[in-house]
Amino acid sequence: MTRTDRYIRIDTGDGTYSLLDRELDEAMHSRSGAYDEALRKHVLPSRALEVPRATARVLDIGFGLGYNILALICERALRAPSLRLEIVTIERDAEIFPHLADVRFGDDRDAVYDNIRTLANRGIADGPGYTAILRLGDARQTIRHVDGAPFDAVFLDPYSPAKNPELWTVDFFLLLRALVSDEAIITTYSSAPQVREALCEAGFRVGPGPSVGGKREGTLATVSGPIPKLTAEALELLRDDPRSTPYRDPGLHSTREMIRAGRRDEMRSRRAVKKDRQAP
Ligand SMILES: C[S@@+](CC[C@H](N)C(=O)[O-])C[C@H]1O[C@@H](n2cnc3c(N)ncnc32)[C@H](O)[C@@H]1O
Repeated sequence: MTRTDRYIRIDTGDGTYSLLDRELDEAMHSRSGAYDEALRKHVLPSRALEVPRATARVLDIGFGLGYNILALICERALRAPSLRLEIVTIERDAEIFPHLADVRFGDDRDAVYDNIRTLANRGIADGPGYTAILRLGDARQTIRHVDGAPFDAVFLDPYSPAKNPELWTVDFFLLLRALVSDEAIITTYSSAPQVREALCEAGFRVGPGPSVGGKREGTLATVSGPIPKLTAEALELLRDDPRSTPYRDPGLHSTREMIRAGRRDEMRSRRAVKKDRQAP
């Protein structure tokens, strides 16, 4: 595939490279450090490397430059060399893949990254202790055909909820719920109340995820796995604030604008109900 100018390179604080998606005007990673974010926002809090079995199954939503998977594979070698990883990753946009050719770390990660390129080019790759499969297409559809469930961890890493709402809806999270074990931990960088509420409606408990690079905390979600609790203030926001109105996408094929408009309408009704309740 030839390179388009939709993506331009940006350098981040830990010396690793990211891409700016010019169509959405959004960077793929935190400017403080792309690899560092993959490790500290996803790999470590997911506890994927602590699974008390011979194999851990990990689902990665939004392959991008493949840093989340890279960090997972590199950390396995350091922390859990006898654990086997079965990884499934989903990406919609193959226009990203030519940009993987530019990624260099100047250390041991380069050898593993060669395999991440193979994964992007062939849809499958394996190495010491892991196999990985990439499914190309809109995650709302491709996720219905993934093998490997139940997953022990999910890296939920689309663009921001406002720009990429189709992967932050109650309906998409219900698909995830059907694919994960009860102990599985879902990791994401977003702490938006509408995301947390959508996860709760889909049957998960939510808690705070680590804050990396001076950014706001993220979110962890699980049915019964070990995650920290939300503060009373954060819980109150979920219970009572119309800003926690979630995105919905009942047929799983709505446009982004339809999903955003649906939330605006529902939020308006919630505000009206709240105002009536408060009226003397
Ligand atoms: C923030 S970037 C992911 C960064 C990536 N996890 C990494 O480690 O480099 C978000 C990714 O989600 C993908 N994406 C957005 N909407 C999608 C959809 N509906 N289905 C599948 N992938 C999607 C984008 O193309 C983009 O590559």
